[in-house]
Amino acid sequence: MRLSDLAMIVCCCGVVWCVCAGATASRAKRDSLDLPSLGRGGLSHRRALNLETFLFGAPYYPGHWDGATRKNDGALMASAGFNVVRMAEFSWDRMEPREGRYDFSFYDEVIAALGAKGIKTILCTPTATPPRWLTVKYPDMVRVDENGVAQVHGSRQHGCHASETFRRYSRIITQAMADHFRDNPNVIGWQTDNEFNCQFSECHCGSCQKAFARFLRKKYVAIKELNRRWGTAFWSQTYLRFEDIPTPRAKPTYMNPAHVLDYYRFISHTVAVFQHEQVEILRKANPKWFVTHNGIFRHIDFRGEFSRDLDFLGLDSYPFFDYGAASRPRSHAFQLDNMRALTGNFIVPEQQSGPGGQGHYFHDNPEPGELRLMTYRSIAHGASSLLYFRWRTCRFGAEEYWCGILDHDNVPRRRYREVAQVGGELRRVGPAVLGTSVRVDVAVATGDFSVEEGHIPLDLGLPSPGSVAREIHGVFFPQGYAVGCIHPEDELTGVKLYFIPHWSLFKPEWVPVLENYVRDGGVLVIGARTATKDFDNNVVAETPPGCLAGLTGVRVVEYGKINRPEERPMTITVGESSVQAPLWYEVLEPSPDAEVMGRWADRFGPAGGGRETAEGSFTGRAAITNRKLGKGRVVYAGTYLMRDVVEVLLPMLNDMSGLGPLCPGSAPDVEVVVRENSERQLWFFLNHSDKEVTIPSAAVGEDLITGKRCDGRLVLPRNGVAVIRK
Ligand code: GAL
Repeated sequence: MRLSDLAMIVCCCGVVWCVCAGATASRAKRDSLDLPSLGRGGLSHRRALNLETFLFGAPYYPGHWDGATRKNDGALMASAGFNVVRMAEFSWDRMEPREGRYDFSFYDEVIAALGAKGIKTILCTPTATPPRWLTVKYPDMVRVDENGVAQVHGSRQHGCHASETFRRYSRIITQAMADHFRDNPNVIGWQTDNEFNCQFSECHCGSCQKAFARFLRKKYVAIKELNRRWGTAFWSQTYLRFEDIPTPRAKPTYMNPAHVLDYYRFISHTVAVFQHEQVEILRKANPKWFVTHNGIFRHIDFRGEFSRDLDFLGLDSYPFFDYGAASRPRSHAFQLDNMRALTGNFIVPEQQSGPGGQGHYFHDNPEPGELRLMTYRSIAHGASSLLYFRWRTCRFGAEEYWCGILDHDNVPRRRYREVAQVGGELRRVGPAVLGTSVRVDVAVATGDFSVEEGHIPLDLGLPSPGSVAREIHGVFFPQGYAVGCIHPEDELTGVKLYFIPHWSLFKPEWVPVLENYVRDGGVLVIGARTATKDFDNNVVAETPPGCLAGLTGVRVVEYGKINRPEERPMTITVGESSVQAPLWYEVLEPSPDAEVMGRWADRFGPAGGGRETAEGSFTGRAAITNRKLGKGRVVYAGTYLMRDVVEVLLPMLNDMSGLGPLCPGSAPDVEVVVRENSERQLWFFLNHSDKEVTIPSAAVGEDLITGKRCDGRLVLPRNGVAVIRK
C-alpha cells in the first residue's frame, strides 16, 4: 500500500480538508490531522517503493549561475545517466520577487531545457526560506528561540510553522506553483520544504504559545486531566487554564518531562499540519505527482501523520559527518537501516558527493572510489532512487565550500567520472532493485518518536535508546549479519533475534505482540530500564520491568548507575567470560522458569561468585536471564546493551536463535547485504577495506555491475562493488 493510499482512505471516510489556499478554512479541521492508525502491515520495514524508474540525479540550483556556465549542464547530466534533478527549494524570492507578482519563466526554461535531454524535475515548495518582503511585512512570523530571541533574515528556516501568517503564505506560494506547473510533463513530483527542523526546531514565539494551548486542550479536554497526567502537583505547577501553559524552556531549571514530551509532540504535529496544507494543494492540482520530503531531523514523528501524508520518505545522507574512516561504513549503514524502521524503503534526495564545509568545519574529501561505494551502500540498504548534493559547488553564500559533483570552476573531474560510472551501472542495477526489500535476520527496535524523545528531558546521563541501537547494530554489521531496525508494531516474521534496548517508555499493548513473536521461535532481548515509564513520561508503579515482568520472568529488586567503573566496578560473568557492566546495573530476581545466564560480581564478593550471597554484596545475584517460551526465548539483560556486553552474549544468542552471518567466510571489511522479493535476490558485496579482497564463496549468478556471470568466487578491489542477481 502506498502512503498516499492511506490519505485517500481518509478522504473516503468523509474528512474534507480545506484545499483553497488563502481561504480561512476551519482551523479545527486543519489542526486535527486525524489520519488512520497504521497498524501492522502499514509502514512495513519491508515496504518496497513502487516507483517505475530508479531516479538518479542531483539537486540543481540554476539561479546561482549565468547562462554560459549552465549551457552544457543538461548534456553533461545526461551523459552521467541522470534522469532527474530537484529544484527551487530556496527560490521563493525568484518566483515571487514581490508579493503577488509571480515569475516562473526562469524555471519554465530550465525545466524545458533539461526535459529535452530526458531529465525530469522534482520541484520543491520553497518555504524553508521565506523571502525578505514577507518577514518585513510580518516580523512576528519568524521563530523565537528559547532565550526569547527572534531569528533574523539572512539564513534559513526562520519561519514559524505555527504562525497563521506563514501558513497562509505557504499555501499561497504552493498553490501558485501547483497551478503554474500542473500540466508541465517534465515535473514528476514534489518535495515539501527542505529538511524540516534541520537547523531549528524548538520555537517559542507567540503563535507557538497559542497553538500549544490549543493542542493541549484538544488532547486533554479538561485542564484537570492534564494536571493529573503531567503530575503538576510536583513543584506547584497546577494550571487553571490551558492558555497559561508556557512552551517549556528549562528556565530557570529542569522542566517536567511530561510537559516537555507533549511540547515535542506539539512540534511534530505542527510541522505535519504545515506540510499537509501543501500536500493537499499539490495532490489536488495533479494527482499523478508524488510527494516526498527530505529528512530526517528532530521532533518529527516519522512513523506518524507526517509520513503517512507522503508517497515515500527521503533521507538526506552525509556520511562524512562521521570523521572516522573506520567507523564510517558502520555509521552510514546504521543511518540507512534505521530509516527503514520508519517507512520501509526510501529515496535519497541528497547524498554527499564531495567534502562538505560550513561555518567552522570541513569534511574529509571522499577518496577515489568512495563516492561510488557510498552510493551502493545506500542502495543496498534500501534507497530506491538517489540524488547527489549537489550538481556544482556554489561560489557564494553560507555553503561556498559545500563541494558538489563539479567544482567552482565548472570542470568535470573524477567526482563527475565516478558519478557517471554509477549512472551507467544503474541501467542494469536500477530496475533490478526496484520492488525489492532488504533482508533482516537480526533487528534492533528503533523508530518510536515518544520512546526517543521522552528520553531527552530526563536522560540521567545515559545514552538514548537510539544510540544504544547503533551500538548493537555495530556488533552485527561488521560481522556480516543481515542486521536491521524494526519498530515493534511492524512485521517481525522471519527475524531470528530482536533487541529492545532500554525503551523506558513502553506500551503494554506491545507485550502480546512480542509474546507471539517469541512463541513462534524468535529470540527477544530486552535491555535494562525497559517498560519503567508510561507514554505520559511518568514512572510506572509496578516493579520493573513493569508490564514485561511476566514475559521476561524477572523482577528488578535494585538498580543503580555506574558513574565511575574504575572506582566501583560491576562485572557480569557469563559462562567462562566476564564483562564490565557499562553505565547501569540491575539486580534481578528470576522466576522459577527463568534461567540465569549472567551473574553479578561486585568489589565485595568473590569475583565470579556464581551463588547467592548475603546482603553485603551483589556478587552471585542474577544479572542476565532467559526464559523459554513456546519455540523461542526471552533474554533480559540488567545492564546497558553496549558493544562489549552484546559481544559476550553473542555465541549464546546465536545458539538460541540459529542466527549466523549472511556469507560465512567472507572477508572482514566486506559488507554483504541482500535485497529480495519473491522473484529475485540481489547480493551486494562492498569492499570497504584498504586492499583487494577475495571472497571464496560469494553468491552465484549474474553480476549486474560487470554483466558477467559470477561462479561464487569474487575478487573485489579497494572500494570495489559487486551486485549479484540470483
Ligand atoms: C542539507 C540541506 C542542503 C544543504 C546540505 C549541505 O542538510 O538540505 O540544503 O544545506 O545539507 O549542507
